[in-house]
Amino acid sequence: MKIAPSILSADFLNLANELQKIQAAGADIIHLDVMDGHFVPNLTFGLPIIRQIRKMTDIPLDVHLMVTNAEDYLAELIEMKIDYVSFHQETVYHAHRQLAILREKGVKAGIALNPATPVQTLLPIISDLDFVLLMSVDPGFGGQKFLPLVFPKIEILRQNAAKEKLEIEVDGGINSENAKKLSKNGVDILVAGSFIFSKKDYRKQIESLRGNDVQ
Ligand code: DX5
Ligand code: ZN
Repeated sequence: MKIAPSILSADFLNLANELQKIQAAGADIIHLDVMDGHFVPNLTFGLPIIRQIRKMTDIPLDVHLMVTNAEDYLAELIEMKIDYVSFHQETVYHAHRQLAILREKGVKAGIALNPATPVQTLLPIISDLDFVLLMSVDPGFGGQKFLPLVFPKIEILRQNAAKEKLEIEVDGGINSENAKKLSKNGVDILVAGSFIFSKKDYRKQIESLRGNDVQ
């Protein structure tokens, strides 16, 4: 299972340093939450900051678009060679087309689902997806409580994607307790923000999500 720290809970005034520390602590991927103040009631950062992050590191970057106009972001994200890009099913009319635009250029293409959105909405296009991002909180803020309603969603995806190579990513309220169960249920990527960044020892936090104890 890959661990993808979300920098939403990092110290934004020391971002370069935070990025170095989180990589040294063993992060597999860095999760970047783009929020527009419309789709979610919060604002974060956009393409210029992502571009600077891309320049300073080779670690895989995972851009989670919580915006109502995801299609406007795709060309630049492709050009920057972002590794994973997801947009929300609740925001798009033409999910199939947007996935194709990303995949054609070698970007891993994913769709994110809010807790209330049924996973069945993805079944007709499951073979067009590289990954699914299941939200285990309502998006917009770090530090919220994990919603176990993702478990049946994981199972449905696993049943329907048995022969496909589909990565399942879970985002929101992740801690070492639920990480254990999510790993057993076949989750490939775990996003964690406050669980990692609220403590000083990032390596210890990342390892505890993997089920390891570090002294
Ligand atoms: C929430 C974001 C998450 C957030 C997770 O809208 O999509 O990636 O950073 O934060 P925690 O792990 O604190 O729930
Ligand atoms: Zn996210």
